[in-house]
Amino acid sequence: MSIQLLDFHPDTTTHEKEVLAGLKKPQKELPAKLFYDDYGSQLFEQITDLEEYYPTRTELAIMQASVGEMASLIGKQALLIEYGSGSSLKTETLLQHLPDLAAYIPIDISREPLLASAERIATRYPALQVLPVCADYTANFTLPQPDQEVHKRVVFFPGSTIGNFHPAEAMLFLRRMRHVARRTGGILIGVDTKKDRQVLHAAYNDAQGVTAAFNLNILRRLNRDLGTDFALDQFFHDAFYDEVHGRVEMHLVSRKKQTVRLSDHPIHLDAGECIWTESSYKYTPAEFAHLAAQAGLRVARVWTDPDNLFSVHYLCST
Ligand code: AVI
Repeated sequence: MSIQLLDFHPDTTTHEKEVLAGLKKPQKELPAKLFYDDYGSQLFEQITDLEEYYPTRTELAIMQASVGEMASLIGKQALLIEYGSGSSLKTETLLQHLPDLAAYIPIDISREPLLASAERIATRYPALQVLPVCADYTANFTLPQPDQEVHKRVVFFPGSTIGNFHPAEAMLFLRRMRHVARRTGGILIGVDTKKDRQVLHAAYNDAQGVTAAFNLNILRRLNRDLGTDFALDQFFHDAFYDEVHGRVEMHLVSRKKQTVRLSDHPIHLDAGECIWTESSYKYTPAEFAHLAAQAGLRVARVWTDPDNLFSVHYLCST
């Protein structure tokens, strides 16, 4: 099976500028999208299978329970555009109920998993046109043109990845998705909810240490791609729920005073100083509806699980 890939994968120069800017800030930070090299994507897949990490299985259960209703909202001859498609596992639930899609466009920054899942889907659904795009979906890129006529565009953004943006950025990104979906389209989006802090703590501090490995892998990736000299054993994983901001924060903490080099730039770290690698915001359905409204979107439908651990929203232009 040969699949045509549209490749807008960013080069390392783009990353170097972003990384340097982040590491020069008083509170050092790294962009969370850098987690997802091929190994990081594999680790993330492992996270989604962990007992402690409830979001993936809960979102899947919500989708399985209500896929008929979701499919009828999406409608016929739709162009399904998935941001951060990864292994596209949740998409399969939808695809089974959408036999007359115009085409499916999975978009992901991680090339190999993207191609593997695009090929799997194309094999399973031979009548479906699958048009993968390798891109940083927060940047500008053009969408491929499907062969079939498109009645409507629907953006699928599962997994609560919207929670990895700060709220102001999330609002701008929702606005961008609204433009992609056009006036007649929709956005099907997964959003993690606020809950007991112990449940959140466990989800980001799993007993097997997979999340810790995922967090530390960002340094391995920088060493490989940008030639930095981070010693991975000189940092440890830290994740906690900040109730005030309604977010889980992940950090890498320096075990000692040390200096790391990025090209000609020395980066000094004190013992105990941390590099902020990720925020994962949690929203009540009402808070998310408010954010969506600021982006010119209304909630046409929201689904949750019986324990309100997770939510899936279908958004339309106001
Ligand atoms: C992809 N994203 C929604 C995950 C999250 O829960 O914020 C990434 C993750 N980080 C640690 N575990 C999972």
